[in-house]
Amino acid sequence: MSDKPSTLLAKYGPWALVTGASSGIGEAFARQLAAEGFNIVLTARRQAQLQALATELATKHGIEAEALGIDLSSENFIDELMAGIDDRDIGLVISNAGFGLKGEHHEQDPQQLKDMLHVNSLAPMLITQAITPHMIKRGKGGMLLTGSMEGFMGFPQSAGYSATKNFVHALGEALWQELKPYNIDVLTLAPGSTDTNALTSQGFDASSMKGVMAPVEVAALGLRQLGKKRLHVAGAANNLFARLMSGLPRKWGLAMAEAGMKSALKK
Ligand SMILES: NC(=O)c1ccc[n+]([C@@H]2O[C@H](COP(=O)([O-])OP(=O)(O)OC[C@H]3O[C@@H](n4cnc5c(N)ncnc54)[C@H](OP(=O)(O)O)[C@@H]3O)[C@@H](O)[C@H]2O)c1
Repeated sequence: MSDKPSTLLAKYGPWALVTGASSGIGEAFARQLAAEGFNIVLTARRQAQLQALATELATKHGIEAEALGIDLSSENFIDELMAGIDDRDIGLVISNAGFGLKGEHHEQDPQQLKDMLHVNSLAPMLITQAITPHMIKRGKGGMLLTGSMEGFMGFPQSAGYSATKNFVHALGEALWQELKPYNIDVLTLAPGSTDTNALTSQGFDASSMKGVMAPVEVAALGLRQLGKKRLHVAGAANNLFARLMSGLPRKWGLAMAEAGMKSALKK
């Protein structure tokens, strides 16, 4: 850690909360924030991974790091999380945990759909709500919500997931406006295909896909845009794709999205 606080740390420090920090984009956020000098609360279900990361980051950067093993699909997750945070002065929330289910909607497992709705949508809604009063009291704060390229419209073959991410985009957009008077910055980050566990667990083969980004790159783009924009699409190719889709008649966009999804799932 350098002697001079980074802009992010000066603006939002001293503590950051990162959900979904045990792997992928969330782990990359945690690593970058710790390197900036943030003390950090990490949360996810895999306690062993989280604890190892917390210990590594604390040792490497001379920061405080707390690992909270919490299942965000559980009934009382918000109470557990707020109790775990205790009186730490959280100035930055990275609401990033999430997972996807691909294939025909009627073939999905109802319990998994319910868990996905809890983790991807209910958790960001209740976490941002629970932390806001503290940020208002301290007079500043930042929130970054991980959305998706699937947050701009419904995606056939990914109906439930795309619905949860459309929810995140609406939540982030509303909070961006609503929290401005309190000096709280909100950014919705929309990654495209990113090389994490999420791709393989949804049935994609990253090696056969074009334009897959590294989680480190996606997290860095998000942190760079917080406080500057309402929404950031990660990467030039994804930006182009988002613009193209928004310019097309919706029925064409849906047909293209379905064809693309089916072809990626076949590989
Ligand atoms: N990879 C992509 O192509 C892509 C594209 C667009 C958006 N995204 C979004 O990016 C975010 C991060 O995903 P990733 O790509 O980095 O995948 P990942 O490596 O699988 O990370 C997902 C994180 O969410 C946590 N999580 C999942 N279920 C949870 C639960 N029930 N309770 C608490 N934590 C839970 C996981 O931790 P545990 O398993 O330890 O609980 C993990 O830390 C997600 O919101 C995802 O939808 C990813």
